[in-house]
Amino acid sequence: MKKAKLVISKDHTIGEVDKRIYGSFIEQWGRAVYGGIFEPGHPAANEKGFRQDVINLIKELQVPVVRYPGGNFLSGYNWEDGVGPVGKRPKRLDLAWLSVESNEIGTNEFLEWARCADTDVMMAVNMGTRGPDAARSLLEYCNHPGGTYLSDLRRSHGYEKPHNIKIWCLGNEMDGPWQIGRKTAEEYGRIACETAKVMKWVDPTIELVACGSSGSGMPTFAEWEAKVLEHTYEQVDFLSLHTYYRNDEKGAVNFLAKSLDMDNFIHSVVSICDYIKAKKRSKKSINLSFDEWNVWYPTEITEDLRWKSPQPINENIYTLLDAVVVGCMLITLLKHADRVKIACLAQLVNTIAPIMTVSGGGSWKNTIYYPYLHASVYGRGKVLNAVVQSPVYDTVEFNDVPYLESVVVYHEEKEEIVIFAVNRDMEEQLFVETDLRDFPNYHILEHIVLESSDAEAANTIDNPNNVVPHREEKTVIEEGMVKAVLSKLSWNVIRLGKRKKDR
Ligand code: AHR
Repeated sequence: MKKAKLVISKDHTIGEVDKRIYGSFIEQWGRAVYGGIFEPGHPAANEKGFRQDVINLIKELQVPVVRYPGGNFLSGYNWEDGVGPVGKRPKRLDLAWLSVESNEIGTNEFLEWARCADTDVMMAVNMGTRGPDAARSLLEYCNHPGGTYLSDLRRSHGYEKPHNIKIWCLGNEMDGPWQIGRKTAEEYGRIACETAKVMKWVDPTIELVACGSSGSGMPTFAEWEAKVLEHTYEQVDFLSLHTYYRNDEKGAVNFLAKSLDMDNFIHSVVSICDYIKAKKRSKKSINLSFDEWNVWYPTEITEDLRWKSPQPINENIYTLLDAVVVGCMLITLLKHADRVKIACLAQLVNTIAPIMTVSGGGSWKNTIYYPYLHASVYGRGKVLNAVVQSPVYDTVEFNDVPYLESVVVYHEEKEEIVIFAVNRDMEEQLFVETDLRDFPNYHILEHIVLESSDAEAANTIDNPNNVVPHREEKTVIEEGMVKAVLSKLSWNVIRLGKRKKDR
């Protein structure tokens, strides 16, 4: 059996986990909103039409923040269409997804839903067809207490208290040719700077995210980041990153290594941010908002779905393999806890999502639900800078891919250590030893495993519990070493706690 080793120390830390890295994303897209979170008349719907079964799952995931309303949808959206009496709201063509937006759910309804789901909203402003004026108006509508036209308009719509939204995205993927109102880096940088300026005049307490590239494969990647930051460095707080992977013709072994690309992407963007910091002799650091990431198998909008709503598109059914890759991506985000302060699993319900719903029926969990759940619930505290020794392999795209992908999080108050670990080996188990030299008298709380004999095994409406986590009972601590055998192709969560008498 191959062997890997981890050594951890209390003093060697990467950074504090910002809980917002367990954020997610709901776009007015597919059946995410209509038929996902909102289904009036459904037996589980509350008086506002929000499905309580879906809310319960989101609460279980402890999602701290949800990005809204897009995504590509954002770049053609008029926020004014989605406020005020529902009966008077216009139906509009949504050019991003070739659907029709009824505007039944808009800003206020979404914020109400977020309150029910115990989550915050990361609001995005349209920088495709709109700009600074619409952005500052929406912010005034949402966050200003009252006594102005727009804040009183909100109050007249039944929302007396300001929503106090703290994080705002300045547009979405503005470098992409698919984007409504795509811009060059110069064009976007200038307008983002002016928009940021007026938004912070309206509410200086907000934080702003500027658009980075829509992926590291974009031809303008790196140059885009540098130019945008040249314009916006002092006005914004975060730069965004987006990435999606899929199991393609290069094969599963290569797919399993994709988080190395994500890691490299993060390193590059941190370097660009710090290069502009140096160039500007600034004292401020820009952090990263990885506000779209996931595994995604895009589906087509067929003729019969054109201008229909809601469109059942991109309802990916995820396999164990996909879940393990999502696990590797979560570990990668955690390993950059010093700079990645926000991240959003894209998306949350039905469209490329961990939570799936049946119209008029139940809800169920895609495989990716589990690594996301475990990381969000247990991955809070400080990320330790573990020394990792692992055997490696090469793939078509990557060299020296460690079989063991892992990260360790230490919760000082609870005196709990969590080892998140993936065995990338699709054929064999992996023996992992963790040296706890700095943490005497810890014991195993539990070792949770997500695995299957079939890498392609998935959950479905008819078989929703095909791939579910179970507990591995054989993991032990001997002479200060955690000894665990990781099943082939598995996601593992090894939780350790301090023995009570030693506290
Ligand atoms: O998350 C799905 C889509 O992917 C988003 O709308 C867009 O921003 C990205 O291209």
